[in-house]
Amino acid sequence: MGSDVSTIPSKLDVVIVGGFGHVGLPLGIVLADSGLQVALYDTDRSKRASIESGKMPFIEEGAEPLLQRVINKTLHISENIADVARARIVIVTVGTPIDEYLNPKTRHLMELCDQLAAHVSAAQCLILRSTLAPGTSSHLNDFFKSRNVGVHIAFCPERIVQGFAVRELKTLPQIISGFTPEAVAISEKLFRDLGVDTITATVQEAEFAKLFCNAWRYIQFAISNQFYMIASEHGADYDNIHKAMTHHYSRAQSFPRAGFAGGPCLLKDTLQLAASHSSNFQLGQAAMGVNEGLPAFVVRQIEEEMGGSLRGKTAGILGMSFKADIDDTRDALSYKLRKILSFHGANVLCSDEYVKDASFVSKEELIARSNVIVIGVPHTAYRDIQIPPTTHVVDLWNVIKKRA
Ligand SMILES: NC(=O)c1ccc[n+]([C@@H]2O[C@H](COP(=O)([O-])OP(=O)(O)OC[C@H]3O[C@@H](n4cnc5c(N)ncnc54)[C@H](O)[C@@H]3O)[C@@H](O)[C@H]2O)c1
Repeated sequence: MGSDVSTIPSKLDVVIVGGFGHVGLPLGIVLADSGLQVALYDTDRSKRASIESGKMPFIEEGAEPLLQRVINKTLHISENIADVARARIVIVTVGTPIDEYLNPKTRHLMELCDQLAAHVSAAQCLILRSTLAPGTSSHLNDFFKSRNVGVHIAFCPERIVQGFAVRELKTLPQIISGFTPEAVAISEKLFRDLGVDTITATVQEAEFAKLFCNAWRYIQFAISNQFYMIASEHGADYDNIHKAMTHHYSRAQSFPRAGFAGGPCLLKDTLQLAASHSSNFQLGQAAMGVNEGLPAFVVRQIEEEMGGSLRGKTAGILGMSFKADIDDTRDALSYKLRKILSFHGANVLCSDEYVKDASFVSKEELIARSNVIVIGVPHTAYRDIQIPPTTHVVDLWNVIKKRA
């Protein structure tokens, strides 16, 4: 990919590989806004025009004004991976998915490192920022050594919550680890200069710290979802139970609500951990069973409520992104719900406040036409909607305040 003629500065502070992504782009914007000369390199050219014109290609609170301030001043677009040679620091933020057998896909990352090895040197620090399966950083460090490339390798995992990266990059403590003292010192300075606290760990500890955070969160959601299913089967109102559990009871304040736990990170990272432990992460795998089973449970519930069959009924799903108030549908469980509802014979309507899809309808049309409505994700815009009392509603988050 790329051209030989580049308009970006000959000396850069940072190049972000994977720079158009949900992690890479906000990080690039925040670093560029701090005064560093930053270039974004990405193989997905579809977002380039948008970024260059100062428009965020996805929703990130507070990012667009910053993007407009820095684009083509301190934030540049690189068309050629060889540009990494111009930077003191190279940050890798590419996706690290799992395959159809639930194992981490590593070939793509290896191919990328193979390309990078031709352009990086001992004068540089390569920061791995993507979430990595245990041992991956060490494997990559060995790979660069085997090529006699003395680049200093660090692993500093991203921990932002999607949608609020700009704010969190300036507040969250950063976990810093590296294979050389130089890698640790350079990474620590990079993030401390953003005004945040840092904590150092070994690379192995840092890999586990990131994965344990996500797996723990995923299991927390699963506990609440399992309790929801138990309560529902007993005909009990889980929302009232949740209120009773948490009302002025400090030990339960962080207890999550029930709801679809989708998205590109939590399940994937839980399974990366399982794969690294001989597929013997029973709590994590049980959490997957519960969270991924929730859409089917909801459909069974609806079927019972609607007299045993959904055939000929119209089911509406309000909210298709994987979490509230963003436009990202990656691994959103609303899509699994849609599939199961259709499989059970329902005519399914979908609506979303942020996701653009020509097959979706407005929330007003969905409300008017549906016999049953499931809140797929609790977008703020659903708080004030009115749903007729004759329409059956499944609202796991208790987001709808009013029933007409
Ligand atoms: N999304 C989040 O909120 C979040 C939070 C913390 C950690 N993470 C982790 O960060 C990593 C990236 O996640 P993301 O959500 O930003 O993914 P993403 O798909 O939004 O972004 C990855 C980007 O990398 C680009 N890319 C892929 N291969 C490339 C290559 N060889 N060269 C250059 N660019 C390439 C893609 O085109 C894409 O733009 C993952 O490991 C993820 O688990 C994500």
